[in-house]
Amino acid sequence: MPKPDTLLAHAGRAPEAHSGMVNTPVFRTSTVIHPTIESYEAPRDLTKKPVSYGRHGTPTTFAFEEAVARLEGAHQAVATPNGLSAIIVALLAVLKPGQHLLVSDSAYSPARGFCDRRLAPLGVEVEYYDPLIGKGIADLLRDNTGAVFCESPGSLTFEMQDIPAIAAAAHARGIPVLADNTWVTPYFASPFELGVDISIHAGTKYIGGHSDLMIGVVATNERYWQPVRQTVYDYAYSVSPDDCYQALRGLRTLGVRLKQHEKNALEVARWLQAQPEVSRVLYPALESDPGHAIWKRDYRGASGLFSVVLKPVDEAALARFVNGLKLFGIGSSWGGFESLITVVHAAPYRTATRWQPEGPAVRLHIGLEDPADLIADLRQGLDRLHAAKAAAHG
Ligand SMILES: Cc1ncc(COP(=O)(O)O)c(C=O)c1O
Repeated sequence: MPKPDTLLAHAGRAPEAHSGMVNTPVFRTSTVIHPTIESYEAPRDLTKKPVSYGRHGTPTTFAFEEAVARLEGAHQAVATPNGLSAIIVALLAVLKPGQHLLVSDSAYSPARGFCDRRLAPLGVEVEYYDPLIGKGIADLLRDNTGAVFCESPGSLTFEMQDIPAIAAAAHARGIPVLADNTWVTPYFASPFELGVDISIHAGTKYIGGHSDLMIGVVATNERYWQPVRQTVYDYAYSVSPDDCYQALRGLRTLGVRLKQHEKNALEVARWLQAQPEVSRVLYPALESDPGHAIWKRDYRGASGLFSVVLKPVDEAALARFVNGLKLFGIGSSWGGFESLITVVHAAPYRTATRWQPEGPAVRLHIGLEDPADLIADLRQGLDRLHAAKAAAHG
C-alpha cells in the first residue's frame, strides 16, 4: 500500500485515459448520450459509479472521490456540495424514525442544529454525550441506537475522543460510528483502522486549502456504501465538476501544506502557552493537552487549528486584542493558507457537559505565514489587551 504522500500525488488520476494529461480534466455535462436504446435502458448500479447523468457525477467527481477513498483506506467515497451536507447525508443514510442517535456534545454546532431541528421532528431521539466518555458510551447505547456521531477533536474546544473505545462498544451492538474528521484530514488519520464506519470531511477546509471552495466528502466502509450512495442520490446532491477539480488540485499539496500548518501552529501554540495573558492552549499536539496521548496514539499529525483560553479580561479588552490584529482575519472557516481568529462561544451549544472556561477563548487558525510574524502580531495584540485591562483598572 503506497504511503499517504505517494497517494496524494497519484491517487485519482489516469493520464493514459485522458490523452496523457497529468490531471483528470473538468468534465462538464448534464446529458450522457448512448449509441442505442438498449444501452440507454440497460440497468445501472449507481454504487459502481457509471457515467450516466451529470447529477450522478462525472469522471472529475469520481477522480476526487477515488483519491479520498484511497487515502482514508475506505471502500468508496462520495462528494457533496459542502461539509454540512456530508454530515447530513451520513446521518440520513443510517438513521430511521424511532431510533436513538448519540452525538458528541462538542460537535460542529450546525450539525447539532440539523439533529435538533430536522432529525428530532422526524422521530429520531437525539442524545448528546460527553466527548470524553470513551468506553463509557456503552452505558448510553440502547437497542434502538442507530448511530454514534463523533468529532475528534471538537473544532472549537478540542477534546480528543477515544474513537477505538467508542467503536468497540458500538460495534459490539452492531451500531455504526460516524466521525467528522475535518480537523485531522484524510492525510493525518486512517479512520477505518480506528473503527469508524463513515468518515466525513468538510473539504472546504484543508482539502481545498485556499479559502475559495465549498465541498464535502463522505467515505465509507463496504457495509455503509450502498445506503450513503443511495441517500446522496435520493436527496439529489450534486457537486460541480469544477469544484471537484479544485478539491483534487488541493489534495495534491495537502501533505506539504499540513506539515507546515502543524509546524507553524506548534510554534505559535508553544509561544502562547508561555504568555502571562494566556491561561491554557487547547491543542492536542501539545504535550500538556489532556488529549495528547490519544492524539499521539490515533493520528499521524495535527492541523493548524486550536483555541486559547485567556485569563479573565472584559469584552472591551478582548476586542482590542482581536480587532487590531493585522495578519489574522476575523471570519468563519479555516484550513486555507491564511491565519484566522474568532471568539469561541461554545457554551450555548452544550447540553451534556458545560463549557465554562476561566476567561474568554479565541480560536486561531495558523496559516502558512512565517510564524515569527504571527507571533509578533499576537504579542502586539496582547499588549493592547494588557493596556486596555490596565486602563479599566484605573
Ligand atoms: C468541523 C466542521 N465540520 C463541518 C463543517 C461544515 O463545512 P461546510 O462549511 O463546508 O459546510 C465545518 C465548517 O466550519 C466544520 O468546522
